[in-house]
Amino acid sequence: MDKFDVVIIGSGPGGYIAAIRAGQLGLKTTIVEKDKELGGTCLNIGCIPSKALLTSSDHFMFAKKEAQKHGIMIDNVHVDLTKMLQRKDKVVKTLTGGVRALMKTNKVTTFEGLGTITAPGKVSVQSSNGGKQEIETKNIVIATGSVPMELPFAKFDGKTIVSSTEALCFTEPPPKLLVIGAGAIGLELGSVWSRLGSEVTFLEFLPRIAVGFDLELSNQLQRALTAQGMTFHLEAKVTAIKIDNGRATATATKGNEELKFDADKVLVSVGRRAFSDGLGAEKIGVALDERKRVKIDNHFRTNVEGIYAIGDVVAGPMLAHKAEDEGIACVEIIAGKSGHVNYDVIPGIIYTNPELAGVGLTEEQAKEKGIDFRIGKFPFRANGRAIANEDVEGMVKFVADAKTDRILGAHILQHAASELIAEAASVMEFGGSSEDLGRTCHSHPTLSEAVKEAALAVEKRALHIVNR
Ligand code: NAI
Repeated sequence: MDKFDVVIIGSGPGGYIAAIRAGQLGLKTTIVEKDKELGGTCLNIGCIPSKALLTSSDHFMFAKKEAQKHGIMIDNVHVDLTKMLQRKDKVVKTLTGGVRALMKTNKVTTFEGLGTITAPGKVSVQSSNGGKQEIETKNIVIATGSVPMELPFAKFDGKTIVSSTEALCFTEPPPKLLVIGAGAIGLELGSVWSRLGSEVTFLEFLPRIAVGFDLELSNQLQRALTAQGMTFHLEAKVTAIKIDNGRATATATKGNEELKFDADKVLVSVGRRAFSDGLGAEKIGVALDERKRVKIDNHFRTNVEGIYAIGDVVAGPMLAHKAEDEGIACVEIIAGKSGHVNYDVIPGIIYTNPELAGVGLTEEQAKEKGIDFRIGKFPFRANGRAIANEDVEGMVKFVADAKTDRILGAHILQHAASELIAEAASVMEFGGSSEDLGRTCHSHPTLSEAVKEAALAVEKRALHIVNR
């Protein structure tokens, strides 16, 4: 077999995007994937199926609670969960099939099986049917992603104590769902099952939900989710989970109190860990950090020549789009170009209703860094389109440098925040100021006008504000 220019191990958004870019650059590329389908966690058991269920359950909520406000009267609204899950599976299939087609288009060959690095430039692929193949390559990109973290005292059993993977396919809403950890996964899947009829209780170790996001907006999100029927216990550290007859009892400590919670299912969403099982990287001397993530320099190079790493398996936010950008930059560097990722402008989103989105520094982070900054805020209840939509929850908030007016951070709580945040990210990527954004013509009537208004509010000149 000819020697490849690049072998990419792992076909998640980091790996498959790196493969496409490598193909575009004319590198002889192959991708190795241990699972049957390409696309990794994101497409198969993460971002995509969760968004399919979030959208379906959001439509259900609209039909049940909101439609009548628009004069749309729907009788007997109910859910056919089998159909909802089938649609989710179809969405996944469409996208994983799409990735396979993209590999072909870009002349990227694929190997199915577990990839092990046996030496620099050598990858052995062990397929599930027992076959073994050896690949030779000039460069290796490790893109093996991450897996859910377990609680040491409550291992996943796939039935009662579950990870996000199983929580994407419950065949009926568990009457009582206990969610441990109020981060992105817990809040999104907790929302899905709450909308579909489960009684959802969150136990969160920290005094707040959605850590890493703007505190004021996270608190607003918590109030919104509470109003939707979810219950939050903050500063509650889970210390034990007992299973009896397929039901769980969790013990948590909250200050001096000991609390007990019974549940039909427990979703453990307390973070993810870098995945490199069976990869053999350590054996050939690739250095890992204290959290078993592959150590890289700012050119994605490990300490072993010709071996690179990107995505969840290296440090940084575990986000598909961060992995994608790293994948592109990494193969551009391999191809002799100058690849680069701007880590100051990586948006993060929690796809609840309202959605919570943020990019750059939060108000708290700007304070911690001792930056002299100004804040501009605008509520959606003063935005014409939001009122017309009957969807006024949330606000936009900018953090701008007090001297230069450069936008340092943008934070949005709104049903469509995941789309709205992209504008702020673009302006930030170009080093733009709040005045740049505030003077940009925005279509009327749109939700994006609230983004413009919040930018104007940095200079205390938002337009649609009464009783300033
Ligand atoms: P996370 O790190 O976002 O949140 C985990 C939460 O669990 C934290 O708030 C932590 O304080 C809490 N926790 C930890 N141990 C606990 C204990 N014993 N008792 C109670 N609470 C405890 O982790 P999550 O939600 O599992 O997500 C994993 C990764 O996947 C994150 O990096 C996240 O950004 C990413 N992700 C992103 C999504 C998105 O962009 N929409 C969706 C899903 C995941």
